[in-house]
Amino acid sequence: MKLDNCSAVITGASAGIGREFARQLALHAQRMVLVARRGDRLEELRLELQARNPALRIEIEVADLSVLEQVMELGRDVSKDKPVDFLINNAGLGDYGAVSTADPKRLNEMIQVNVLAVTALTRALLPQMIAQNRGAILNVSSSAGFLPIPGFAVYAATKAYVTSFSEALRAEVRGSGISVCALCPGPVHTEFMAVAAQGQSRSENAPEFVHVPVEKVVRAGLNGIELDKALVIPGTFMKIGMALARLSPTVLMRLGWRFSQRRG
Ligand SMILES: NC(=O)c1ccc[n+]([C@@H]2O[C@H](COP(=O)([O-])OP(=O)(O)OC[C@H]3O[C@@H](n4cnc5c(N)ncnc54)[C@H](OP(=O)(O)O)[C@@H]3O)[C@@H](O)[C@H]2O)c1
Repeated sequence: MKLDNCSAVITGASAGIGREFARQLALHAQRMVLVARRGDRLEELRLELQARNPALRIEIEVADLSVLEQVMELGRDVSKDKPVDFLINNAGLGDYGAVSTADPKRLNEMIQVNVLAVTALTRALLPQMIAQNRGAILNVSSSAGFLPIPGFAVYAATKAYVTSFSEALRAEVRGSGISVCALCPGPVHTEFMAVAAQGQSRSENAPEFVHVPVEKVVRAGLNGIELDKALVIPGTFMKIGMALARLSPTVLMRLGWRFSQRRG
């Protein structure tokens, strides 16, 4: 779908990848709805974007996407006056550590935001897109969704859901003028790591060379929509790495974990 003059909803626009989506879309969109819990951050972003494009209509929706009622209300509010034709399901969080010691509330929050909010918002906005014969849904998944990850088990499983959901949805809406794309970045420098570590110091496992700049991740995602791609993995190293990971037999993956446990 061509993004010029689109009417977009961006969840998780107060930081990181979502904020960059807003910045890059600001010159193309006609209307943008910015969603997150931190309204002050969204207001700051609104001022910045409005200065860059005075014609852009910017709306702010403060919502906690871990609360289903708020997600449902958001779905109703954003499409009341003007239909939405571009949904970026970007808000998400991780949580490092073993399942046995994780905070159950935190696991619940992660599943609510990463899985249930994505599903509910898609369900709320899709019928209008189908009726208009025009629309796009960009689901920000993760390369973590390609493989189970001990120590990041629930997060990786939520992202496996997002990738699978996106692929099936794409097939369901084929022929109705709607693009569905799963964006699967590897590590990106944002607030994500600090949130996932919850203030505890945790040395980042991923070496610097696998990180992809946030600007490049977002550009790849928007290109993915414009070119109607099913799946986008930004960065050459991650692309090759994930292709190999997806082809590897499960038995090899299990051996790898056993080996790394012995060394650790
Ligand atoms: N950074 C990475 O390495 C990486 C890699 C692959 C995929 N991803 C995915 O990229 C997406 C964006 O992450 P990021 O790296 O930009 O992280 P980030 O800098 O921590 O931003 C996360 C965004 O999600 C919002 N959010 C979190 N919980 C929310 C809630 N309950 N209700 C509403 N909004 C909520 C936050 O807003 P508020 O706190 O203001 O509510 C914030 O705007 C996530 O889906 C993440 O899984 C990230």
